[in-house]
Amino acid sequence: MLPKRRRSRVGHPDGAAAGSAQPPARFPDVAVYLAEPRMGRSRRAFLTRLALSKGFRVLDTYSSAVTHVVMEKTSAEEAVCWQGRVAAADPCRPCPVLLDISWFTESMAAGQPVPVERRHQLGMAEPRSGSPSPARVPIYACQRPTPLMHHNTILSEALETLAEAAGFEGSEGRLLSFRRAASVLRALPGPVMALSQLQGLPHFGEHSRRVVQELLQHGTCEEVERVRHSERYRTMQLFTQVFGIGVKTANRWYQEGLRTLDELQEQPQRLTQQQKAGLQHFQDLSTPVGRPDAEALQRLVEEAVGQALPGATVTLAGGFRRGKLQGHDVDLLISHPEEGQEAGLLPRVVLHLQNQGLVLYHQHQSSRLGSPAHLARQSCTMDAFERSFCIFRLPQPPRAAAEGPPKPWRAVRVDLVVVPWSQFPFALLGWTGSQLFERELRRFSRKEKGLCLNSHGLFDPEQKMVFHVASEEDIFKHLGLEYLPPEQRNA
Ligand code: CTP
Ligand code: MN
Ligand code: MN
Repeated sequence: MLPKRRRSRVGHPDGAAAGSAQPPARFPDVAVYLAEPRMGRSRRAFLTRLALSKGFRVLDTYSSAVTHVVMEKTSAEEAVCWQGRVAAADPCRPCPVLLDISWFTESMAAGQPVPVERRHQLGMAEPRSGSPSPARVPIYACQRPTPLMHHNTILSEALETLAEAAGFEGSEGRLLSFRRAASVLRALPGPVMALSQLQGLPHFGEHSRRVVQELLQHGTCEEVERVRHSERYRTMQLFTQVFGIGVKTANRWYQEGLRTLDELQEQPQRLTQQQKAGLQHFQDLSTPVGRPDAEALQRLVEEAVGQALPGATVTLAGGFRRGKLQGHDVDLLISHPEEGQEAGLLPRVVLHLQNQGLVLYHQHQSSRLGSPAHLARQSCTMDAFERSFCIFRLPQPPRAAAEGPPKPWRAVRVDLVVVPWSQFPFALLGWTGSQLFERELRRFSRKEKGLCLNSHGLFDPEQKMVFHVASEEDIFKHLGLEYLPPEQRNA
Protein backbone atom coordinates (compact mmCIF):
# COMPACT_ATOMS: atom_id res chain seq x y z
CA MET A 1 0.00 0.00 0.00
CA LEU A 2 1.10 3.47 -0.76
CA PRO A 3 1.68 5.35 2.47
CA LYS A 4 -0.74 8.19 2.99
CA ARG A 5 0.94 11.54 2.71
CA ARG A 6 0.61 12.87 6.19
CA ARG A 7 1.79 16.00 7.78
CA SER A 8 5.11 15.53 9.45
CA ARG A 9 4.80 14.53 13.01
CA VAL A 10 5.60 17.10 15.58
CA GLY A 11 9.17 16.70 16.67
CA HIS A 12 10.13 14.76 13.57
CA PRO A 13 10.70 17.11 10.70
CA ASP A 14 10.34 15.41 7.30
CA GLY A 15 8.56 12.60 9.06
CA ALA A 16 11.82 11.28 10.45
CA ALA A 17 11.49 7.84 11.94
CA ALA A 18 10.10 7.83 15.40
CA GLY A 19 12.52 6.88 18.05
CA SER A 20 14.26 8.22 21.07
CA ALA A 21 16.93 10.88 20.82
CA GLN A 22 18.46 10.54 17.38
CA PRO A 23 22.07 11.35 16.67
CA PRO A 24 22.40 14.15 14.11
CA ALA A 25 22.29 12.95 10.52
CA ARG A 26 25.82 12.50 9.20
CA PHE A 27 24.80 12.45 5.53
CA PRO A 28 22.49 15.39 4.93
CA ASP A 29 22.07 14.62 1.19
CA VAL A 30 20.64 11.20 1.86
CA ALA A 31 17.14 10.55 3.17
CA VAL A 32 16.20 6.89 3.19
CA TYR A 33 12.67 5.54 3.00
CA LEU A 34 12.24 1.83 3.68
CA ALA A 35 9.26 0.73 1.62
CA GLU A 36 7.71 -2.37 3.05
CA PRO A 37 5.63 -4.14 0.40
CA ARG A 38 7.56 -7.31 1.27
CA MET A 39 9.83 -6.24 4.07
CA GLY A 40 7.52 -6.69 7.00
CA ARG A 41 7.07 -4.31 9.91
CA SER A 42 9.47 -5.70 12.46
CA ARG A 43 12.20 -6.09 9.87
CA ARG A 44 11.61 -2.49 8.84
CA ALA A 45 11.83 -1.31 12.42
CA PHE A 46 15.07 -3.23 12.91
CA LEU A 47 16.64 -1.81 9.73
CA THR A 48 15.51 1.66 10.69
CA ARG A 49 17.23 1.43 14.08
CA LEU A 50 20.37 0.11 12.42
CA ALA A 51 20.51 2.96 9.91
CA LEU A 52 19.81 5.58 12.56
CA SER A 53 22.61 4.21 14.70
CA LYS A 54 24.99 4.69 11.76
CA GLY A 55 23.93 8.31 11.38
CA PHE A 56 21.62 7.89 8.39
CA ARG A 57 18.46 9.94 8.09
CA VAL A 58 15.50 7.55 7.76
CA LEU A 59 12.06 8.93 7.01
CA ASP A 60 9.09 7.12 8.42
CA THR A 61 6.62 8.44 5.88
CA TYR A 62 7.10 8.90 2.19
CA SER A 63 7.59 12.54 1.18
CA SER A 64 9.34 14.74 -1.35
CA ALA A 65 12.37 14.79 0.94
CA VAL A 66 13.07 11.11 0.30
CA THR A 67 16.15 10.55 -1.88
CA HIS A 68 16.65 6.78 -1.58
CA VAL A 69 13.77 4.28 -1.53
CA VAL A 70 14.91 0.84 -0.38
CA MET A 71 12.92 -2.32 -1.04
CA GLU A 72 13.48 -5.92 -0.14
CA LYS A 73 12.43 -9.01 -2.12
CA THR A 74 10.58 -6.75 -4.52
CA SER A 75 10.76 -7.41 -8.25
CA ALA A 76 11.72 -4.66 -10.66
CA GLU A 77 8.21 -4.83 -12.08
CA GLU A 78 6.56 -4.35 -8.68
CA ALA A 79 8.96 -1.54 -7.90
CA VAL A 80 8.14 0.28 -11.12
CA CYS A 81 4.46 -0.21 -10.39
CA TRP A 82 4.91 1.16 -6.87
CA GLN A 83 6.77 4.13 -8.26
CA GLY A 84 4.08 4.73 -10.86
CA ARG A 85 1.50 5.07 -8.09
CA VAL A 86 3.74 7.39 -6.11
CA ALA A 87 4.36 9.54 -9.18
CA ALA A 88 0.63 9.63 -9.92
CA ALA A 89 -0.01 10.84 -6.38
CA ASP A 90 2.26 13.83 -6.94
CA PRO A 91 3.42 14.26 -10.54
CA CYS A 92 5.42 17.42 -9.85
CA ARG A 93 7.69 15.82 -7.32
CA PRO A 94 11.00 14.41 -8.55
CA CYS A 95 11.26 10.65 -8.14
CA PRO A 96 13.85 9.22 -5.79
CA VAL A 97 16.07 6.35 -6.79
CA LEU A 98 14.58 2.87 -6.26
CA LEU A 99 17.05 0.55 -4.61
CA ASP A 100 17.39 -3.05 -3.76
CA ILE A 101 18.27 -3.95 -0.17
CA SER A 102 21.86 -4.61 -1.38
CA TRP A 103 22.55 -0.87 -1.47
CA PHE A 104 21.31 -0.59 2.10
CA THR A 105 23.33 -3.49 3.51
CA GLU A 106 26.48 -2.39 1.72
CA SER A 107 26.01 1.12 3.04
CA MET A 108 25.52 -0.18 6.56
CA ALA A 109 28.69 -2.26 6.27
CA ALA A 110 30.60 0.73 4.91
CA GLY A 111 29.20 3.03 7.59
CA GLN A 112 28.28 5.53 4.88
CA PRO A 113 26.09 5.63 1.77
CA VAL A 114 27.86 3.73 -1.00
CA PRO A 115 27.59 5.16 -4.52
CA VAL A 116 24.50 3.89 -6.31
CA GLU A 117 25.43 1.42 -9.01
CA ARG A 118 23.22 -0.06 -11.67
CA ARG A 119 23.12 -3.41 -9.91
CA HIS A 120 21.55 -1.71 -6.88
CA GLN A 121 18.72 -0.23 -8.88
CA LEU A 122 15.29 -1.75 -9.07
CA GLY A 123 13.79 -1.26 -12.50
CA MET A 124 14.48 2.21 -13.76
CA ALA A 125 14.18 5.11 -11.41
CA GLU A 126 11.75 7.23 -13.37
CA PRO A 127 13.23 10.36 -14.81
CA ARG A 128 13.30 13.21 -12.38
CA SER A 129 10.81 16.04 -12.84
CA GLY A 130 9.11 15.43 -16.16
CA SER A 131 12.01 15.55 -18.58
CA PRO A 132 13.22 11.98 -18.87
CA SER A 133 16.97 11.57 -18.82
CA PRO A 134 18.06 9.30 -21.65
CA ALA A 135 19.80 6.07 -20.68
CA ARG A 136 23.35 5.58 -21.89
CA VAL A 137 23.57 2.47 -24.03
CA PRO A 138 26.78 1.25 -25.71
CA ILE A 139 26.63 0.64 -29.45
CA TYR A 140 27.41 -3.07 -29.67
CA ALA A 141 25.06 -5.57 -28.06
CA CYS A 142 28.10 -7.45 -26.68
CA GLN A 143 29.01 -4.36 -24.64
CA ARG A 144 25.81 -4.33 -22.61
CA PRO A 145 23.82 -6.86 -20.59
CA THR A 146 20.49 -7.88 -22.12
CA PRO A 147 18.33 -9.90 -19.71
CA LEU A 148 15.56 -12.20 -20.78
CA MET A 149 12.89 -10.31 -18.86
CA HIS A 150 12.88 -6.66 -19.78
CA HIS A 151 10.63 -3.62 -19.68
CA ASN A 152 9.75 -2.92 -23.30
CA THR A 153 8.07 -6.04 -24.66
CA ILE A 154 5.40 -4.37 -26.77
CA LEU A 155 7.79 -1.91 -28.37
CA SER A 156 10.53 -4.44 -29.08
CA GLU A 157 8.11 -7.03 -30.47
CA ALA A 158 6.70 -4.45 -32.88
CA LEU A 159 10.18 -3.67 -34.18
CA GLU A 160 11.01 -7.40 -34.38
CA THR A 161 7.96 -7.89 -36.59
CA LEU A 162 9.25 -5.23 -38.98
CA ALA A 163 12.72 -6.82 -38.86
CA GLU A 164 11.30 -10.21 -39.73
CA ALA A 165 9.20 -8.76 -42.53
CA ALA A 166 12.26 -6.97 -43.95
CA GLY A 167 14.11 -10.30 -43.85
CA PHE A 168 11.30 -11.90 -45.85
CA GLU A 169 11.83 -9.23 -48.52
CA GLY A 170 15.56 -9.92 -48.57
CA SER A 171 16.39 -6.50 -47.07
CA GLU A 172 19.24 -7.50 -44.81
CA GLY A 173 20.08 -3.89 -43.98
CA ARG A 174 16.58 -3.04 -42.79
CA LEU A 175 16.34 -6.32 -40.93
CA LEU A 176 19.46 -5.42 -38.96
CA SER A 177 18.38 -1.83 -38.28
CA PHE A 178 15.06 -2.90 -36.78
CA ARG A 179 16.60 -5.82 -34.92
CA ARG A 180 19.30 -3.63 -33.37
CA ALA A 181 16.77 -1.01 -32.30
CA ALA A 182 14.56 -3.72 -30.76
CA SER A 183 17.58 -5.08 -28.93
CA VAL A 184 18.49 -1.66 -27.50
CA LEU A 185 14.97 -1.49 -26.01
CA ARG A 186 15.48 -4.86 -24.33
CA ALA A 187 18.67 -3.58 -22.71
CA LEU A 188 17.07 -0.49 -21.14
CA PRO A 189 16.76 -0.45 -17.34
CA GLY A 190 13.09 0.57 -17.47
CA PRO A 191 10.09 1.17 -19.69
CA VAL A 192 10.16 3.82 -22.40
CA MET A 193 7.22 6.08 -21.62
CA ALA A 194 8.13 9.16 -23.62
CA LEU A 195 9.74 9.60 -27.02
CA SER A 196 12.40 11.82 -25.49
CA GLN A 197 13.83 8.75 -23.78
CA LEU A 198 15.06 7.56 -27.17
CA GLN A 199 17.32 10.60 -27.38
CA GLY A 200 20.90 9.52 -27.85
CA LEU A 201 20.13 5.80 -28.05
CA PRO A 202 22.14 4.02 -30.73
CA HIS A 203 20.45 2.38 -33.74
CA PHE A 204 17.27 4.44 -33.52
CA GLY A 205 16.58 5.74 -36.99
CA GLU A 206 13.65 7.79 -38.19
CA HIS A 207 11.52 4.73 -38.93
CA SER A 208 11.95 2.92 -35.58
CA ARG A 209 11.37 6.19 -33.75
CA ARG A 210 8.10 6.71 -35.62
CA VAL A 211 6.92 3.21 -34.68
CA VAL A 212 7.65 3.84 -31.00
CA GLN A 213 5.95 7.22 -31.13
CA GLU A 214 2.79 5.72 -32.59
CA LEU A 215 2.76 2.93 -30.01
CA LEU A 216 3.20 5.39 -27.16
CA GLN A 217 0.43 7.61 -28.47
CA HIS A 218 -2.15 5.09 -29.66
CA GLY A 219 -1.14 1.72 -28.21
CA THR A 220 -0.82 0.20 -31.69
CA CYS A 221 1.16 0.93 -34.83
CA GLU A 222 -0.74 0.92 -38.10
CA GLU A 223 2.20 -0.33 -40.16
CA VAL A 224 2.97 -3.19 -37.80
CA GLU A 225 -0.66 -4.28 -37.73
CA ARG A 226 -0.86 -4.15 -41.51
CA VAL A 227 2.27 -6.32 -41.81
CA ARG A 228 1.05 -8.82 -39.22
CA HIS A 229 -2.23 -9.32 -41.03
CA SER A 230 -0.83 -9.36 -44.56
CA GLU A 231 -1.02 -12.53 -46.60
CA ARG A 232 2.62 -12.13 -47.54
CA TYR A 233 3.92 -11.99 -43.95
CA ARG A 234 1.65 -14.74 -42.66
CA THR A 235 2.53 -17.12 -45.47
CA MET A 236 6.26 -16.43 -45.27
CA GLN A 237 6.12 -16.97 -41.52
CA LEU A 238 4.24 -20.24 -41.96
CA PHE A 239 6.61 -21.59 -44.62
CA THR A 240 9.86 -20.57 -42.90
CA GLN A 241 8.62 -22.15 -39.70
CA VAL A 242 8.90 -25.55 -41.41
CA PHE A 243 12.18 -27.33 -40.64
CA GLY A 244 14.29 -27.15 -43.81
CA ILE A 245 12.54 -24.21 -45.49
CA GLY A 246 14.55 -21.00 -45.63
CA VAL A 247 13.51 -17.53 -46.75
CA LYS A 248 14.61 -18.03 -50.37
CA THR A 249 12.61 -21.23 -50.86
CA ALA A 250 9.59 -19.81 -49.05
CA ASN A 251 9.69 -16.75 -51.27
CA ARG A 252 9.90 -18.79 -54.45
CA TRP A 253 6.89 -20.83 -53.47
CA TYR A 254 4.98 -17.74 -52.45
CA GLN A 255 5.69 -16.14 -55.83
CA GLU A 256 4.34 -19.29 -57.48
CA GLY A 257 1.09 -18.79 -55.63
CA LEU A 258 1.45 -21.44 -52.94
CA ARG A 259 -0.16 -20.45 -49.63
CA THR A 260 -0.78 -23.44 -47.40
CA LEU A 261 1.14 -26.41 -46.02
CA ASP A 262 -1.37 -28.72 -47.74
CA GLU A 263 -0.36 -27.23 -51.07
CA LEU A 264 3.28 -27.96 -50.26
CA GLN A 265 2.44 -31.55 -49.30
CA GLU A 266 0.80 -31.99 -52.69
CA GLN A 267 4.16 -31.53 -54.42
CA PRO A 268 6.32 -34.13 -52.69
CA GLN A 269 8.70 -34.32 -55.66
CA ARG A 270 9.85 -30.77 -54.87
CA LEU A 271 10.49 -31.39 -51.19
CA THR A 272 13.81 -32.43 -49.61
CA GLN A 273 13.82 -35.24 -47.07
CA GLN A 274 14.34 -32.62 -44.38
CA GLN A 275 11.31 -30.59 -45.51
CA LYS A 276 9.17 -33.73 -45.70
CA ALA A 277 10.11 -34.56 -42.11
CA GLY A 278 9.45 -30.93 -41.13
CA LEU A 279 5.97 -31.04 -42.64
CA GLN A 280 5.20 -34.44 -41.23
CA HIS A 281 5.94 -33.28 -37.67
CA PHE A 282 4.87 -29.68 -38.18
CA GLN A 283 2.37 -29.56 -35.36
CA ASP A 284 4.82 -30.79 -32.72
CA LEU A 285 7.77 -28.81 -34.05
CA SER A 286 5.82 -25.57 -33.99
CA THR A 287 4.87 -26.19 -30.36
CA PRO A 288 7.57 -24.69 -28.10
CA VAL A 289 9.85 -27.11 -26.26
CA GLY A 290 9.75 -26.57 -22.50
CA ARG A 291 12.75 -26.74 -20.20
CA PRO A 292 11.77 -30.10 -18.65
CA ASP A 293 11.65 -31.63 -22.15
CA ALA A 294 15.01 -30.06 -23.03
CA GLU A 295 16.55 -31.50 -19.88
CA ALA A 296 14.99 -34.93 -20.45
CA LEU A 297 16.44 -34.87 -23.92
CA GLN A 298 19.86 -33.89 -22.66
CA ARG A 299 19.78 -36.87 -20.28
CA LEU A 300 18.92 -39.25 -23.12
CA VAL A 301 21.81 -37.92 -25.19
CA GLU A 302 24.15 -38.04 -22.18
CA GLU A 303 23.29 -41.68 -21.69
CA ALA A 304 23.99 -42.52 -25.33
CA VAL A 305 27.20 -40.49 -25.35
CA GLY A 306 28.34 -42.13 -22.11
CA GLN A 307 27.80 -45.56 -23.67
CA ALA A 308 29.62 -44.64 -26.85
CA LEU A 309 32.58 -42.87 -25.22
CA PRO A 310 33.02 -42.73 -21.44
CA GLY A 311 34.21 -39.32 -20.28
CA ALA A 312 32.60 -37.44 -23.16
CA THR A 313 30.59 -34.35 -22.21
CA VAL A 314 27.20 -33.03 -23.29
CA THR A 315 26.46 -29.32 -22.84
CA LEU A 316 23.15 -27.56 -23.30
CA ALA A 317 23.64 -24.39 -25.37
CA GLY A 318 21.27 -22.14 -27.34
CA GLY A 319 18.35 -20.29 -25.80
CA PHE A 320 18.00 -22.64 -22.84
CA ARG A 321 21.53 -21.76 -21.70
CA ARG A 322 20.48 -18.11 -21.82
CA GLY A 323 17.72 -18.93 -19.34
CA LYS A 324 14.81 -19.21 -21.76
CA LEU A 325 11.99 -21.40 -20.51
CA GLN A 326 10.98 -22.41 -24.03
CA GLY A 327 12.71 -22.85 -27.35
CA HIS A 328 12.18 -24.02 -30.90
CA ASP A 329 14.85 -26.70 -30.54
CA VAL A 330 17.49 -28.13 -28.20
CA ASP A 331 21.15 -27.34 -28.96
CA LEU A 332 23.67 -29.82 -27.51
CA LEU A 333 27.46 -29.68 -27.78
CA ILE A 334 29.37 -32.93 -27.48
CA SER A 335 33.07 -33.02 -26.62
CA HIS A 336 35.81 -34.95 -24.80
CA PRO A 337 38.64 -33.53 -22.67
CA GLU A 338 41.14 -35.65 -24.56
CA GLU A 339 41.20 -34.03 -27.96
CA GLY A 340 40.85 -36.51 -30.81
CA GLN A 341 38.69 -38.93 -28.79
CA GLU A 342 35.59 -37.29 -30.25
CA ALA A 343 36.42 -38.52 -33.76
CA GLY A 344 33.81 -40.98 -35.02
CA LEU A 345 31.66 -40.50 -31.94
CA LEU A 346 28.53 -38.94 -33.45
CA PRO A 347 27.44 -41.85 -35.72
CA ARG A 348 27.80 -44.20 -32.73
CA VAL A 349 25.70 -41.90 -30.55
CA VAL A 350 22.97 -41.56 -33.17
CA LEU A 351 22.93 -45.33 -33.75
CA HIS A 352 22.53 -45.89 -30.02
CA LEU A 353 19.61 -43.45 -29.92
CA GLN A 354 18.05 -44.98 -33.03
CA ASN A 355 18.17 -48.43 -31.46
CA GLN A 356 16.07 -47.06 -28.61
CA GLY A 357 13.52 -45.73 -31.11
CA LEU A 358 14.27 -42.12 -30.19
CA VAL A 359 15.18 -40.76 -33.62
CA LEU A 360 12.50 -39.77 -36.14
CA TYR A 361 14.87 -38.03 -38.52
CA HIS A 362 18.53 -37.17 -38.67
CA GLN A 363 20.86 -35.63 -41.17
CA HIS A 364 24.55 -36.08 -40.55
CA GLN A 365 27.03 -33.48 -41.72
CA SER A 366 30.71 -34.37 -41.62
CA SER A 367 33.20 -32.01 -40.11
CA ARG A 368 35.01 -29.75 -42.49
CA LEU A 369 37.70 -29.02 -39.96
CA GLY A 370 41.07 -27.71 -41.07
CA SER A 371 43.77 -26.13 -38.93
CA PRO A 372 42.46 -23.80 -36.22
CA ALA A 373 44.23 -20.84 -37.86
CA HIS A 374 42.57 -21.61 -41.16
CA LEU A 375 39.19 -22.00 -39.49
CA ALA A 376 39.47 -18.91 -37.37
CA ARG A 377 40.14 -16.87 -40.48
CA GLN A 378 36.96 -18.03 -42.18
CA SER A 379 34.53 -15.19 -42.15
CA CYS A 380 31.46 -17.22 -43.08
CA THR A 381 28.97 -17.55 -40.25
CA MET A 382 28.35 -21.27 -40.67
CA ASP A 383 30.89 -23.24 -38.68
CA ALA A 384 32.60 -26.43 -39.82
CA PHE A 385 31.87 -28.78 -36.91
CA GLU A 386 30.57 -32.28 -37.43
CA ARG A 387 26.90 -32.20 -36.57
CA SER A 388 23.52 -33.83 -36.86
CA PHE A 389 20.24 -32.04 -37.42
CA CYS A 390 17.71 -34.34 -35.79
CA ILE A 391 14.09 -34.78 -34.92
CA PHE A 392 13.75 -36.80 -31.73
CA ARG A 393 10.82 -38.86 -30.58
CA LEU A 394 10.69 -37.79 -26.97
CA PRO A 395 8.55 -39.93 -24.62
CA GLN A 396 6.12 -37.77 -22.64
CA PRO A 397 5.32 -38.21 -18.96
CA PRO A 398 1.74 -39.33 -18.29
CA ARG A 399 -0.66 -36.41 -18.00
CA ALA A 400 -3.52 -35.83 -15.64
CA ALA A 401 -6.88 -36.44 -17.33
CA ALA A 402 -7.77 -32.75 -17.00
CA GLU A 403 -4.82 -31.79 -19.22
CA GLY A 404 -6.29 -33.50 -22.25
CA PRO A 405 -5.79 -36.83 -23.96
CA PRO A 406 -2.59 -38.69 -23.14
CA LYS A 407 0.30 -38.11 -25.52
CA PRO A 408 2.90 -40.88 -25.42
CA TRP A 409 5.55 -38.85 -27.24
CA ARG A 410 6.27 -35.62 -29.05
CA ALA A 411 8.66 -34.66 -31.84
CA VAL A 412 11.49 -32.29 -30.89
CA ARG A 413 14.12 -30.63 -33.06
CA VAL A 414 17.64 -31.24 -31.78
CA ASP A 415 21.01 -29.98 -32.99
CA LEU A 416 23.94 -32.20 -32.00
CA VAL A 417 27.35 -30.60 -32.55
CA VAL A 418 30.73 -32.28 -32.03
CA VAL A 419 33.47 -29.95 -30.81
CA PRO A 420 37.20 -30.62 -30.37
CA TRP A 421 38.10 -29.71 -26.78
CA SER A 422 40.53 -26.88 -27.58
CA GLN A 423 37.80 -25.05 -29.51
CA PHE A 424 35.10 -25.68 -26.91
CA PRO A 425 34.92 -22.18 -25.36
CA PHE A 426 34.53 -20.62 -28.81
CA ALA A 427 31.89 -23.15 -29.83
CA LEU A 428 30.00 -22.67 -26.56
CA LEU A 429 30.08 -18.90 -26.99
CA GLY A 430 28.99 -19.22 -30.63
CA TRP A 431 26.18 -21.66 -29.94
CA THR A 432 24.76 -19.90 -26.91
CA GLY A 433 23.52 -16.93 -28.94
CA SER A 434 21.44 -14.96 -29.23
CA GLN A 435 21.94 -14.71 -32.94
CA LEU A 436 22.16 -10.93 -32.77
CA PHE A 437 24.56 -11.12 -29.84
CA GLU A 438 26.88 -13.36 -31.90
CA ARG A 439 26.67 -11.09 -34.88
CA GLU A 440 27.50 -8.05 -32.82
CA LEU A 441 30.34 -9.82 -31.05
CA ARG A 442 31.95 -10.70 -34.37
CA ARG A 443 31.39 -7.24 -35.76
CA PHE A 444 32.89 -5.71 -32.62
CA SER A 445 35.94 -8.01 -32.88
CA ARG A 446 36.48 -7.12 -36.52
CA LYS A 447 35.76 -3.39 -36.46
CA GLU A 448 37.04 -2.39 -33.06
CA LYS A 449 39.83 -4.91 -32.46
CA GLY A 450 40.86 -6.02 -35.94
CA LEU A 451 40.35 -9.63 -34.86
CA CYS A 452 38.43 -12.43 -36.49
CA LEU A 453 36.11 -14.38 -34.17
CA ASN A 454 33.99 -17.44 -34.96
CA SER A 455 32.94 -20.68 -33.28
CA HIS A 456 36.40 -22.18 -33.85
CA GLY A 457 38.68 -19.49 -32.56
CA LEU A 458 39.94 -15.93 -32.36
CA PHE A 459 42.49 -14.97 -34.94
CA ASP A 460 44.77 -11.97 -35.32
CA PRO A 461 45.28 -11.49 -39.07
CA GLU A 462 48.18 -9.04 -38.58
CA GLN A 463 50.19 -11.16 -36.18
CA LYS A 464 48.95 -14.29 -37.92
CA MET A 465 48.23 -15.96 -34.60
CA VAL A 466 45.38 -17.69 -32.84
CA PHE A 467 44.53 -17.16 -29.18
CA HIS A 468 44.39 -20.12 -26.86
CA VAL A 469 41.67 -19.90 -24.25
CA ALA A 470 40.31 -22.04 -21.44
CA SER A 471 36.92 -20.43 -20.99
CA GLU A 472 34.36 -17.99 -22.38
CA GLU A 473 35.65 -15.47 -19.84
CA ASP A 474 39.07 -15.61 -21.52
CA ILE A 475 37.52 -14.69 -24.88
CA PHE A 476 35.78 -11.63 -23.44
CA LYS A 477 39.09 -10.68 -21.80
CA HIS A 478 41.03 -10.94 -25.07
CA LEU A 479 38.45 -8.69 -26.69
CA GLY A 480 38.63 -6.15 -23.88
CA LEU A 481 34.97 -6.73 -23.04
CA GLU A 482 33.36 -7.08 -19.66
CA TYR A 483 32.21 -10.68 -19.21
CA LEU A 484 28.52 -11.25 -19.78
CA PRO A 485 27.01 -14.48 -18.43
CA PRO A 486 24.67 -16.35 -20.82
CA GLU A 487 21.54 -14.90 -19.14
CA GLN A 488 22.69 -11.43 -20.18
CA ARG A 489 23.20 -12.33 -23.83
CA ASN A 490 19.54 -12.13 -24.84
CA ALA A 491 20.24 -9.35 -27.32
N1 CTP B 1 24.06 -21.38 -34.64
C1 CTP B 1 25.23 -21.56 -35.32
N2 CTP B 1 25.26 -22.29 -36.47
C2 CTP B 1 24.14 -22.86 -36.93
C3 CTP B 1 22.93 -22.71 -36.25
C4 CTP B 1 22.93 -21.95 -35.08
O1 CTP B 1 26.25 -21.05 -34.89
N3 CTP B 1 24.19 -23.54 -38.05
C5 CTP B 1 24.04 -20.57 -33.42
C6 CTP B 1 23.13 -19.38 -33.57
O2 CTP B 1 23.85 -18.27 -34.01
C7 CTP B 1 22.65 -19.19 -32.18
C8 CTP B 1 22.74 -20.56 -31.52
O3 CTP B 1 23.54 -21.34 -32.39
O4 CTP B 1 23.49 -18.31 -31.51
C9 CTP B 1 21.41 -21.19 -31.29
O5 CTP B 1 20.65 -21.19 -32.48
P1 CTP B 1 19.10 -21.45 -32.51
O6 CTP B 1 18.77 -22.77 -31.96
O7 CTP B 1 18.65 -21.18 -33.91
O8 CTP B 1 18.51 -20.26 -31.63
P2 CTP B 1 18.17 -20.16 -30.09
O9 CTP B 1 18.76 -18.90 -29.61
O10 CTP B 1 18.58 -21.41 -29.37
O11 CTP B 1 16.62 -20.00 -30.10
P3 CTP B 1 15.51 -21.11 -29.76
O12 CTP B 1 15.36 -21.06 -28.28
O13 CTP B 1 14.28 -20.70 -30.46
O14 CTP B 1 16.02 -22.43 -30.25
MN1 MN C 1 17.99 -23.33 -30.04
MN1 MN D 1 19.48 -24.74 -33.01
